[in-house]
Amino acid sequence: MTMTGITRRRLGGVAAGAAAAGLAGCAAKTGPLPVLKDRQFPADFTWGAASAAYQTEGSTEADGRGRSIWDEFAARPGAIIDGSDATTACDSYRRYTEDADLVAGAGLKAYRFSIAWPRIFPDGAGALNEAGVDYYSRLVDALLDRGVSPFATLFHWDLPLALQEKGGWAARDTALRLADYAAAITARLGDRVKNFIVLNEAAVHAVLGHVLGEHAPGLKDAALLGPVIHHLNLGQGLSVAAMRAAQGGLSIGTTMALQPARPQGAPLAFWNRPAADGFDALWNGAFLDPLFKGAYPAAALAMVEPMLQEGDLTLIRQPVDFLGVNYYSPTTIRLDLSSPSRIAAGEPPAAAPRDAFGREIDPSGLLDMLTRVRESYGNPVVYITENGCSDAFSDGPAVLDDGFRINYLRAHLEAVKAAMEAGSRIAGFFHWTLIDNWEWALGYRSKFGLVAMDRTTGARTPKASYVWYAGLAASGLLDEA
Ligand code: FCB
Repeated sequence: MTMTGITRRRLGGVAAGAAAAGLAGCAAKTGPLPVLKDRQFPADFTWGAASAAYQTEGSTEADGRGRSIWDEFAARPGAIIDGSDATTACDSYRRYTEDADLVAGAGLKAYRFSIAWPRIFPDGAGALNEAGVDYYSRLVDALLDRGVSPFATLFHWDLPLALQEKGGWAARDTALRLADYAAAITARLGDRVKNFIVLNEAAVHAVLGHVLGEHAPGLKDAALLGPVIHHLNLGQGLSVAAMRAAQGGLSIGTTMALQPARPQGAPLAFWNRPAADGFDALWNGAFLDPLFKGAYPAAALAMVEPMLQEGDLTLIRQPVDFLGVNYYSPTTIRLDLSSPSRIAAGEPPAAAPRDAFGREIDPSGLLDMLTRVRESYGNPVVYITENGCSDAFSDGPAVLDDGFRINYLRAHLEAVKAAMEAGSRIAGFFHWTLIDNWEWALGYRSKFGLVAMDRTTGARTPKASYVWYAGLAASGLLDEA
C-alpha cells in the first residue's frame, strides 16, 4: 500500500513557497466552534510543555549510549533537509537544569520528556546502562525540586539500532523488548515518576518510517505497515502490563496523533469519502480500536491478521489511565486510482489557513477528535500531550514576537474548552515544545518552541508566547483574541 503524497517533506516544499509569498504562519481562522460558557479552566488543570529525547538531548555518544535508528537515518545524504544532525540539538543532556528552570519559570506544573531507549539498553536488550538511567534520574530530581511533575514517554521514535537490525517493529520480538525496557524504567524511576506515556504517535512512526521513508528507519515498504502497527500495539499492551506488575500507583497512558480525515471537496465529491474512511481506519482506528475495543477496524484487519496470535487483542486492550492526544491539523484525503491503497493526500479548501508545513489550521478538527474519543471510546481521561505551531521554515533566528503562535494556541484551547464543556474529561495540555529543537527530517529549519535557542551558544531566550503561556498557567483564564 502507498499513500500518495502524504509526506512532511512534500508539505514542507509547498509551505516554503507559501512562506516566500508571505502566506505561512499560524493565523487561526477557525472552523465553527460552539460558543464557550466561560473561558476559565479548572484550578487542577495541568499546564505543561512537551519535548522528546532525540530532538533535544544531543550528547549522542555520551555515557555508553547505543546508536539509534535516527543516528543512522540522519547520516544518510539528503535525509535531513538542512543537512544537520542531532548530535548537539538543545544540548539538554548537559543543560537540563536550565530546561527545568524554564518550565518552572513559566509556572508549569508538568514537563513531558522522553527517555532514549538506547541510553538505557544500548543494544536494545541485555545489560542495562546505569549511566543512562542516571541522567534521567537527575532530570527527574531537577523537575521535582522545582515542583514540576515529570511525564515520561518511553518510545518517541528512537529505537535502538541493534533492534532494527533484527527487524525493528516488523518483528514481534521488539514488542517484548519494549516491555522489558518499560519494566526496567519503572523499577528505576517509578518511585518518582508517576505519569508514563508508552508510545508517541505510533501512526506517524509506522507510516512515515516504514512506508514513506521520510523518517527513520527510512523504509519504503507498504507490506511492513500491518506488522509494524500490530507490534507497536502489542508492545504497548505488554508494557502497560509489565509496568503495573512492577509497581502500583502509576498513571499510565499512551499518545496518539489523532487527525480527522476529511474527504476533499466534500460533500459534493462523494467518491473521496471511502478513501478518507480508509485513511481514518489506518491512522486513527488502527490504534484507538484495539486499545479501547479490543478489535481492529475492518480496513486494518486484513493487514494485521497474519501477525495476530491468540490473546494478542486481550493484551493490547489493557486499561490505560489516560489517552494522550497530539493534534496539529486535520488532513484532507482524496481517491487516487493509481495508488494500490486508493488513498492520497488531497488539497484542503483553498481559503483554509495553513501552517508552515502547508497543513490546514483548523481547531475544529481537534474538537472533532475529542468528541469522537468521548462518544465512541468510553470517554477516557485525556491529556493533550502536544499542540503547537512552527515559525515559517527558515535557517535564520526564531521569531521572538510570536503573536501567530499565541493565536494558534488560543484557538486550539478554545476547542479543548468546548470539548470539556460537552463532557470530555481533559486533564491537561502540553505545549509542543519548550525550546526550539531538531525537528526530525526538517532539521533546525522548523521551530516550535516557547523559547528560542542560539545554535552557536545554546543560549535560551523566551518568546512572547512563553510569557503569554505563563500567564495562562497562572490564572487558568483563556484571554480573548
Ligand atoms: C509531532 C511529534 C513531535 C514533533 C511535533 C512537531 O508529530 O510527536 O516530536 O515533531 O510533531
